[in-house]
Amino acid sequence: MNPSDVHPLLACPRCGGDFESSFETTLKCLSCGEFFPIREGVPSFYDPSVYWGEEFDLDEMRTINSLAVEKGWREAVRDMVKPKSPERAEYIEGFFRADWRFLFPVQENWTVLDVGAGWGTLSCALAEVVGEVVALESAFERAKFIQHRIEQDAISNLTAIHGTLTRPPLKAGSFDLIALNGVLEWLGWADTSRSVPSVQVAHLKTCWNLLKPGGWLYVGIENRFGISSWLGAMDHSYLKYTSLMPRMLAHGYTNLKRKHAYRTYTYSPIGYRRLLTKARFEEIDFFATLPTYSRPVYYWPVGNGKALKRVIKILTQEKPNNAKLGWAAKIVDRTPEGLLSVAAPYLVPHLLIVARKAKDDRID
Ligand SMILES: C[S@@+](CC[C@H](N)C(=O)[O-])C[C@H]1O[C@@H](n2cnc3c(N)ncnc32)[C@H](O)[C@@H]1O
Repeated sequence: MNPSDVHPLLACPRCGGDFESSFETTLKCLSCGEFFPIREGVPSFYDPSVYWGEEFDLDEMRTINSLAVEKGWREAVRDMVKPKSPERAEYIEGFFRADWRFLFPVQENWTVLDVGAGWGTLSCALAEVVGEVVALESAFERAKFIQHRIEQDAISNLTAIHGTLTRPPLKAGSFDLIALNGVLEWLGWADTSRSVPSVQVAHLKTCWNLLKPGGWLYVGIENRFGISSWLGAMDHSYLKYTSLMPRMLAHGYTNLKRKHAYRTYTYSPIGYRRLLTKARFEEIDFFATLPTYSRPVYYWPVGNGKALKRVIKILTQEKPNNAKLGWAAKIVDRTPEGLLSVAAPYLVPHLLIVARKAKDDRID
């Protein structure tokens, strides 16, 4: 990063101040004087040893990053990720994963924040259609991978930042759209001294603050009582059925099996609406998606029973030997459309949620 390249949307996570643009390896806050490093080209506001990664541990992620420097990030994915997990390779490369963007009136001049940007797929896809994207990621090795994508694919309107939504190093009122794809459910771990819903609401309030008036929020997440949980899908506790349990029981069970509390809360649409309303969001809408919010191949308004029947039919034709899908198809087929419209919002496995900050955000 050149000295003059301090991103205009960056702000001190401690006091909100601007940064002095006279250092190459550090950022100095002009208000409180705090220094933050620029690590390998990535402004860094968080502990670099903190790591989170699905199938790949920290050592493997470091090797992937080294290979990305040596051979390029695509080769690194093909050599290191694909043999272990072809699905993860598709997840990293598949721009279609950002197709939820069609739920929003996206414009070329928009500024977008992708929170918990992971491997950077959604950020890179969004950078093709908007003016500016910031990828905020709390795991340094992941932010570094995004930086490799930016440099190697010459994506001039995307910036990788190592930091957290808990203390965002960003200016308030800056974004037209904020994306939380597979992130809200993990935020309960950001502060274990408070209840999970209050930590999640606090982070949603932070998003509200970062948005411009009239700005949009996107949340991709599981439906707490979704059919896949009943069919034994693994919950974020790495145990089955915990999202279906009363919270106290889930706490006890997770403590017994995993030696920690249950803090990865998901909700039904009623619960998500409650959280978002507490964080002052309006115009809240729910869309069902299949097969998952991370692969939103099909999505439709969550209460539309006709659409659900049609999508399930297509999926069973595509995967005739999938027993769980077969069961789901039988149930859906035998349920009247009207009943399906009422029940589907609680039973579809995954949700895409749209919410908005009011255009006039002044409190009367
Ligand atoms: C399930 S992944 C989702 C990745 C990405 N959104 C996607 O869909 O491709 C969740 C990501 O959020 C990051 N994360 C978790 N808590 C965070 C926080 N408080 N601030 C920023 N990133 C966070 C994790 O390091 C992880 O990379």
